Amino acid sequence: MTPATLLILVALTGSPRATLESEARAFAAAYRRPAPLPPAPREQVELGRLLFFDPRLSGSGTMSCASCHNPSLSWGDGLARGVGAGGKALARRTPTVLDVAWGQTFMWDGRFETLEAQALSPVTSVDEMNLPEPLLAPRVAAVGRYRQGFERAFPDAGVSTTTIAKALASFERTVVSGKAPFDRWVDGERSAISDAARRGFVLFNTRAKCSKCHSGWRFTDESFHDIGVADADLGRGALPEFTKFTVLQHAFKTPSLRDTARRGPWMHDGSAKTLEEVIQLYDVGGIVKRPSLSADLTPLSLSPQDEQDLIELMKTFSAPVEVAVPVLPRE
Ligand code: HEC
Ligand code: HEC
Repeated sequence: MTPATLLILVALTGSPRATLESEARAFAAAYRRPAPLPPAPREQVELGRLLFFDPRLSGSGTMSCASCHNPSLSWGDGLARGVGAGGKALARRTPTVLDVAWGQTFMWDGRFETLEAQALSPVTSVDEMNLPEPLLAPRVAAVGRYRQGFERAFPDAGVSTTTIAKALASFERTVVSGKAPFDRWVDGERSAISDAARRGFVLFNTRAKCSKCHSGWRFTDESFHDIGVADADLGRGALPEFTKFTVLQHAFKTPSLRDTARRGPWMHDGSAKTLEEVIQLYDVGGIVKRPSLSADLTPLSLSPQDEQDLIELMKTFSAPVEVAVPVLPRE
């Protein structure tokens, strides 16, 4: 093509950059952030915030929810697997609690249907916080500030395992990801992301098939898939009601990609140490090819530039937020 014909083409079709922008823009609407949810009563949220950071909720008095869901690490722990009571390694990696208000099931295998149902399981689990359930409410009620707080927040109930779970869940629903460069771009700020990220976003929605599962503003379909991670954990397939479902063997909940670049190592077992390793897993169509492997995992033939573009895209999903750490009662 001569420079003259190129100029004519550009004049006719718009510049290549404008074309890329409009190609990417076509997918943007499905990723727009929703309106904030109405918060629970403030007294309940504030009690939940105290409890979430309070090591009193563990048998040894040394571990709080925030030990593993650390706000400085995007509400994860930065480890391949969680570390519980007595330094014991847990079976799976700690997921973030960012945006759990919009979650439909909880845990990698989705075994809990509400945050209230989930909240006490780490407290009483021998491997995690190891505080026997009968000791929990009396221990909290022994603290004047909690007793008074619960009486104000739950006038008919006071301190109980039910209200403790409710307060924790109400606080967790306020843990919301910040507005990331990607969101500013979705809202129309064209310069908020780079051309590499724009190319990555087109790939994400087309040839690389990421959006088949990482859909919507939290980048999750809330469903369960085997993506071929090399690990024996059966995930959702281990739940008694699902042992006979082939596609649920080795299937894990599609994780949100909010802040994902800050939350490595990745996958339920922390086996992917870099985002490059994550992309390579998809490029080969899954490391382990089992009967349960998702039909959407097929080799992608990504070029090195495609891989970098997808990584540049994922970096635009991060937004640091300032978190108010509470002053705990000392009595
Ligand atoms: C010892 C580390 C550790 C502690 C302490 C801990 N968690 Fe977790 N949390 C995990 C791990 C690991 C998982 C995933 C377990 C699984 O999927 O089987 C998890 C999962 C969750 C989830 C599900 C998130 C999702 O998207 O599915 C929520 C919510 C949660 N924890 C809240 C809490 C609360 C509330 C506390 C305190 C009462 C707490 N955690 C204490 C490690 C921890
Ligand atoms: C078939 C559904 C599916 C497709 C397609 C898919 N993912 Fe995933 N993704 C998942 C599931 C499920 C997990 C968790 C798997 C596990 O831990 O065993 C995951 C994990 C991830 C993680 C790690 C997140 C974390 O917190 O550990 C990243 C990053 C990721 N995917 C990005 C992508 C990208 C980029 C693409 C496209 C190249 C893609 N995914 C395609 C379902 C999918």
